[in-house]
Parts: sequence; C-alpha cells; structure tokens
Amino acid sequence: MKIAVYPGSFDPVTLGHLDIIQRASKLVDRLVIGVLTNISKKTVFSMEERVKFLELVIKEYNLESKIKIESFNGLLVDFAKAQNASFIVRGLRAVTDFDYELQLAQTNHVMVPDIDTVFFTTRLEYSYLSSSTVREIANFGGDIRHFVPECIIQFIYDKYKTIGSV
Ligand code: COA
Repeated sequence: MKIAVYPGSFDPVTLGHLDIIQRASKLVDRLVIGVLTNISKKTVFSMEERVKFLELVIKEYNLESKIKIESFNGLLVDFAKAQNASFIVRGLRAVTDFDYELQLAQTNHVMVPDIDTVFFTTRLEYSYLSSSTVREIANFGGDIRHFVPECIIQFIYDKYKTIGSV
C-alpha cells in the first residue's frame, strides 16, 4: 500500500492546499494530512478548528475514501514513520519556497532515508496564495471566496467575529 503524508499548519486550509491534496491523492493509496500542532508560529485557528476545516473540505470534495486527517507534534519523519508512509508531499508555489523546502527535504532524508519528499508545483492560479493572505483579508471582512473552499468560509468569518479584528 502506497502511503504519503502531507504536513502543514493549515491555518486555515486554502484552495491551494486543496489542489495539492487532490493531485497527490491520485498517486497514492492513502494520503494522510498531518496537521502540525507544535508550530513556532502562533495559529489563529486552534488545532481542532484546523482539523475540522480539513474534514469538511475532504467531505465536500468526496475525498474521504483515500484521505485520513491526523494532528501531530514532534518530528515530521517520526509522524511519517508512524503512518507507514513512504513519501512526504509538499507544494512548491514559487522559487521563494525552494530553499526552505530543499533544506527540509534533505534534513528529513538524512534522518530517515526510506522516506522521500515529493514536490507538486502549485497550480499557477494559486501560486500567490497563502494562509496568512486569507487571514489578513478575513480579518478586515474582505471577500475570501476565491481563496478557500466554500464550506469553511462562514467559520472563518465567525472566528474573526469572536476574536475581533487582530
Ligand atoms: N497553497 C497555499 N498555501 C500554501 C501552499 C499551497 N499549496 N503550500 C504552502 N502554503 C503556505 C501555507 O498556507 C503557509 O502560509 P502562512 O505562512 O501564510 O500561514 C506557508 O505556506 C507554510 O506553511 P505550511 O505548508 O503549513 O508549512 P509550515 O512551514 O507551517 O510547516 C512542516 C512545515 C510541517 C513541514 C515543518 O514545519 C515540519 O516538518 N515540522 C515538524 C518538525 C520537524 O520535523 N522539524 C524538522 C524539519 S527538518
């Protein structure tokens, strides 16, 4: 069984992430989305919210049969091993992602040579997109319809109503 993990903070999941999820899931038997909990950057959405958003999106796009969503902390390679994964999936949006991603992939490969990192080039229409862009627009009540899946839009606005403009 070919298993891959797709790790990230998903704060929140965007259409760019969804694009990678859809394409990567075609190449494997199971794609485990790993939602990182011990991130140095502080997230706006709690781990439970980030996982819930992913669950809603996976359901809306009928991807449930191939995809599992798990939260993790600690090292990515340990999470990947625990999931019996042979691959780590990452998206490359622009050349600016490259240095960081190369370092990450090489370090992980030194730690666990059995696990390879596979890169997907993000679709051109999402190459500018990041979760912080979405957060910033939502924070000021802007229109996020072009950036995140429909089913999570209201949850994102509701969150900013609760916490107020940051
Ligand atoms: N579409 C849209 N946005 C994308 C994207 C895509 N296809 N790919 C990446 N991004 C964005 C994210 O939205 C995020 O945006 P933000 O910074 O504005 O919030 C940004 O790129 C990076 O986020 P993400 O992909 O979630 O990565 P990360 O840097 O938060 O985490 C891990 C990367 C999880 C792989 C890394 O931190 C990790 O492995 N941590 C575990 C600890 C470990 O093993 N460390 C040793 C590694 S050598």
